[in-house]
Amino acid sequence: MQQKLIFTNLVGKAIDDLVAELGNPQAFVIVDVNTAQYVLPTLSEQSAAVQAASIITIKAGEPNKTLEAVQGIWKSLQDNNATRSGVIINVGGGVVTDLGGFAAATFKRGMRVINVPTTLLGAVDASVGGKTGINFNGYKNEIGTFTEPLASIISTGFFVTLSQQELLSGYAEMLKHALLESSEELAKLLSYSVVYPIFDPEKLLELLKQSVSVKQRIVDQDLTECGARKALNLGHTIGHAFESLGFKRQSPVPHGYAVAWGCVVALVMSHMKLGFPADTMTQFAKYVNKNYGAFAFSCDDYQQLITYMQHDKKNVRPGEICFTLLSAVGEPHINECVSDDDIKAALDIYRDLMGV
Ligand code: GLY
Repeated sequence: MQQKLIFTNLVGKAIDDLVAELGNPQAFVIVDVNTAQYVLPTLSEQSAAVQAASIITIKAGEPNKTLEAVQGIWKSLQDNNATRSGVIINVGGGVVTDLGGFAAATFKRGMRVINVPTTLLGAVDASVGGKTGINFNGYKNEIGTFTEPLASIISTGFFVTLSQQELLSGYAEMLKHALLESSEELAKLLSYSVVYPIFDPEKLLELLKQSVSVKQRIVDQDLTECGARKALNLGHTIGHAFESLGFKRQSPVPHGYAVAWGCVVALVMSHMKLGFPADTMTQFAKYVNKNYGAFAFSCDDYQQLITYMQHDKKNVRPGEICFTLLSAVGEPHINECVSDDDIKAALDIYRDLMGV
C-alpha cells in the first residue's frame, strides 16, 4: 500500500477531508505534552474531526518511547471502546508517530493512521515509510512493525517555531535523500540555508516535496528493508556510533547532526572503495562543517566507534561491518563491507576534512 502524501498549509481541512473519506469513524488524536500545548488548540479550531476526537496525551522525548507509554495508549483506546475501524491521528515529531503508529498497528490487530508531523525530521523521515516502534531494554527501535499510515499531511507552517538545531537535524535527512537521488537535487540543497531567519517556508516546502518523494519511491520498492530500502541507511551506521559515543561522554548529539557527520565519513569510504568523486566529497564536507560543525574525536576513540558499528542491527554477518556507500551521487551500493583498517583510514580523512 502506498501512503498518501499531502503537502498543504491547510492542515485542518486536509484532516477533515480524509476523515470524511473514511466515513467519519471514531477518531483519536495522539499528541505529546508539547504539541498538546502549542499545536492542538489551533488544529481543533481548524478541524471538526480533531474537535470531536478523543485526545490521548503522552510524555515528550525519546526516553518516553516505551512499552509503558504504548500500554497507556492501548488503555485509553480500550476505555473509549475503540474498534479496528477507528482512526488515529498522530500529531507530533518522530516519537509521537513511531509510538502512536506502533500502538495503532497492534491494537485489535491494526487501526488506521493519519500522521501530522510537526518537525522537519518527522516530515522528511519518521512520518513516511511505515516504520513504527519503541525502544526496549536499552536498544533503540528494538520492537516495532512496518505499517504504513493511510496518509501523512505535511505542512512547513509548523516549522517556524522550531529551533535552528531542530531544523538542521531534519535537513540532514534531506541531504541524505539528495545524495541518493541526483547531483541536481544535491546542488539545490547545498545552495539553500535552512537556518532561521533566512529560511523561506515556501521554498522549503518545494524542497521537502522532492525529498519525501525520494524516500517514498524507495519504500515502495521495499517496505520491509530486505534490499533497496537499506540505501536509506546512508550515513547511519557511523552516525549511530557517533550518537553512542556522545551518549557515553554524557554529551549527546542530535540524531540529524550525527547523520550529517556520518554521511561525510560514508562519502570518504565511498571515495576510497567505489571511486566517489573527491570534489563532491570535499564540497559536502565543507557544507556540513559550516552548518553542523564537526563531531570531534581522536584516534584513541577509533576502536570504540568500530565496536559500536559492529553492533549495528543492519550488519549482515557477525563481525562484518556493512555500509551503504555511493559510487556517485544517485548511485547507492548496499551491504558494502569495510575492513577495520579502512574504517580507521576513513576516520583519519574525516578528521582532516573537518579540522578535528
Ligand atoms: N529512516 C530510514 C527508513 O525509514 O528506512
